[in-house]
Amino acid sequence: MYTKTAEVPKKKGKEVKLRGWVHRLRQLGDKYFVVLRDSTGIIQAVVTPDKIKGKIDTEASIELTGKVVEDKRAPRGFEVQATDLKVIGESASDWPFHRYKSTEMELDLRHLWVRSTKIQDVLRVKAKMISGFRHFLDEEDFCEVAPPIFVSAACEGGSTLFEVPYFGGKAYLSQSGQLYSESMLPALEKVYALAPSFRAEKSRTRRHVTEYWHLEPEMAWTDWKQNIDLQESLLKASITFLLDKNPELLENYQDRLTELEKWRKEKWIRIRYDEAIELLKTKLKFPKAKLGDDLGTKEEIALTDHFDTFVAVTHYPRDMKAFYMKVDEKDPKWVLSNDLMGPHVGEIIGASEREWKHDLLLENMKIHKLNPKDYAWYLDLRKYGSVPHSGFGLGIERFLMSVLKLEHIRETLPYPRFMNRTYP
Ligand code: 4AD
Ligand code: MG
Repeated sequence: MYTKTAEVPKKKGKEVKLRGWVHRLRQLGDKYFVVLRDSTGIIQAVVTPDKIKGKIDTEASIELTGKVVEDKRAPRGFEVQATDLKVIGESASDWPFHRYKSTEMELDLRHLWVRSTKIQDVLRVKAKMISGFRHFLDEEDFCEVAPPIFVSAACEGGSTLFEVPYFGGKAYLSQSGQLYSESMLPALEKVYALAPSFRAEKSRTRRHVTEYWHLEPEMAWTDWKQNIDLQESLLKASITFLLDKNPELLENYQDRLTELEKWRKEKWIRIRYDEAIELLKTKLKFPKAKLGDDLGTKEEIALTDHFDTFVAVTHYPRDMKAFYMKVDEKDPKWVLSNDLMGPHVGEIIGASEREWKHDLLLENMKIHKLNPKDYAWYLDLRKYGSVPHSGFGLGIERFLMSVLKLEHIRETLPYPRFMNRTYP
């Protein structure tokens, strides 16, 4: 019986009943212009004061009835001429976003700023993007699993590990569910986890938060090349899911459509780390780039700009990457890994074939100065019927930044967490 604002344009000349919140309020002569917001967006209504029941302010919740008329100047090209407007929940007259909006204010008052259409749009796209991932992984016979969040050892190195008190002892917050997902392969063969990961990142950059959403598929009987194939198909499928199944969510992102179409059609690029360094040095204005350097955001984006699409960089130096990665038998300087670089953001995926032989894994641990005792259970996995396997971790927020070309990761989370922020 209630019409959603998105449906209003289809009801030209008809009477509709709407409910939502007063997104904007303006008085002009003897009329009020009320922009009503609901979960599908906004629509403008005009109403005379005598039709309003209750005290109306920005962000009051309301119900209104009226006739739909075409009006090119209104958002969505239609307007509702209200014959009745009832205030359900009053709003105090000091709605803070009447004033100047700064980034700090948007973070300090996040509990109210989440109502902005900017966040609304991004969160709806994010939710469908995740549906797209699940849909694809389901079709490919992956089983969703839930790794623990409290863990006893690092997956990705000690420097970004959060320590928490744990009944007189200590535990850590998980940086990645990977090691646990690996343990489930002998039972389920193809699994994925979608969970928050925690990183005690001291770096304040446009692409780091301390808590992010991590999608981590892990596959038995899979090598590093097949792993990249899956990364490419998964991300392309989610772009297709958005473009074809949920085009209305991209209504306010029309400027993104051309690039998204291109990304889903074309083959993505794969180059080795040493080739990437050479390219950066000779063609991409990084004259100081040399073997052994880690790639930073600038270098990563230079690569995606150069190829104008996603770029998988493979075969990183062994000492730059995690202990669980399989070394290249052809040349043990390198590991069978890849990072996937997304346009506008850089690294969105970290991936590798895993070291599946017990003694080689033990040797890697020693090189990385890890105590094998802390990983005894993980070593066990290599004692009882180990198989070649691979997997990867996708930062959901990072990929969303690529897709919508967002400037800062804070735009992708309702409550982003940084070094200096856990409130609200
Ligand atoms: O490259 P990372 O550290 O890889 C792993 O954690 C592997 N164990 C994953 C796996 O193979 N299952 O992290 C994976 C991705 C990064 O590429 C990035 O997209 C995201 O997680 N990420 C972050 N996103 C936002 N803020 C941070 N501080 C992030 N740290 C990593
Ligand atoms: Mg990484």
